[in-house]
Amino acid sequence: MELRALSSILACGMAVPERILTNADLEKLVETSDKWITERTGIKERHILRQGEVISTYAVQASREALKQASLKPEDLNLILCATLTPDFLMPSLSILVQKELGAVKAGAFDLSATCSGFLYALTVADQFIRNNPNWKILVIGAEALSRKTNWRDRSTCVLFGDGAGAVILGASENQSGIIDFILGADGSNWSLLTLKGGGSAYPPFDPELPEEEYFIKMQGREVFKIAVRMMEKIALELLERNGLSSSDLSLVIPHQANLRIIEYLRERLELPQDKVFVNIHKYGNTSAASIPIALCEAEREGRLKKGDLLLMVSFGGGFTFAGVLMRW
Ligand code: COA
Repeated sequence: MELRALSSILACGMAVPERILTNADLEKLVETSDKWITERTGIKERHILRQGEVISTYAVQASREALKQASLKPEDLNLILCATLTPDFLMPSLSILVQKELGAVKAGAFDLSATCSGFLYALTVADQFIRNNPNWKILVIGAEALSRKTNWRDRSTCVLFGDGAGAVILGASENQSGIIDFILGADGSNWSLLTLKGGGSAYPPFDPELPEEEYFIKMQGREVFKIAVRMMEKIALELLERNGLSSSDLSLVIPHQANLRIIEYLRERLELPQDKVFVNIHKYGNTSAASIPIALCEAEREGRLKKGDLLLMVSFGGGFTFAGVLMRW
């Protein structure tokens, strides 16, 4: 059998807006408290776009940082893949804006929508290209501006989300590092628990039939929570089991940062100490498709990832979508 190249993360970058919205700021907007938000979610603050800013600015910034770290030029890129559900425009895509801004003249570019699992979905798509084209270099981005789709009058959702971008460069591995296995999952049977209807084609703009609140993220949080904990655990255990591994083999787990209690539940089910599960939700809130690449970048910068480490990334999101990626760093 022909031996295909493993794809590995050659470099990463991240960028978040300067503006910080603290729990104290939210206390002035809705009936909530720092105590409630901290205890129920683990979030202390989040970065959000200022009026007039766009998320492509941060996607480009994160990408430039990743290119620099990989010692690559924009024209070395063969493909740009951007996971997002909040692009600057519906057309052109966010990845095209990044392509133009970087001057990545030899790259194809497209967006991918898989909600909070978007980055892991995009990473596995890029992995397939690398396995068949070992010379390719692919820029994989997760970028979100959820603050633009947040109902600032709904206290059950507005405390949760933040904006930001993370980017990685994927290329063929020159050693034993790289993506070992992955799971992509989807279950549309409960789609109505988490929605963002306005802006899609079901309702034309300014449709009087659509209540104003439907132009923002709507969620039945408690129900979403139950699905999230069940699926995160299932995917993590399945990936470990089919690769003949146990959780003690893992050097680090990077879960989607949606709620500290969901992360803690996963950690307990995997029987892992706190230092083996990466958490930065207190600083950024839930940045959807950007959450895992931002966390990955911070983990790398903090020296939490060393060559040869076994890394598990796991996510869930609206739809519902689920994903897990197991890789050797
Ligand atoms: N501040 C204060 N009280 C709040 C509040 C807020 N920001 N938001 C909700 N509450 C209240 C509710 O009104 C409710 O009051 P009641 O008991 O008087 O009816 C009470 O707190 C409990 O609400 P509930 O929704 O059951 O809380 P919870 O413990 O489930 O926490 C979430 C709410 C949203 C934090 C939690 O359900 C969650 O994180 N769910 C998953 C969300 C997620 O991951 N989404 C993204 C998918 S990628």
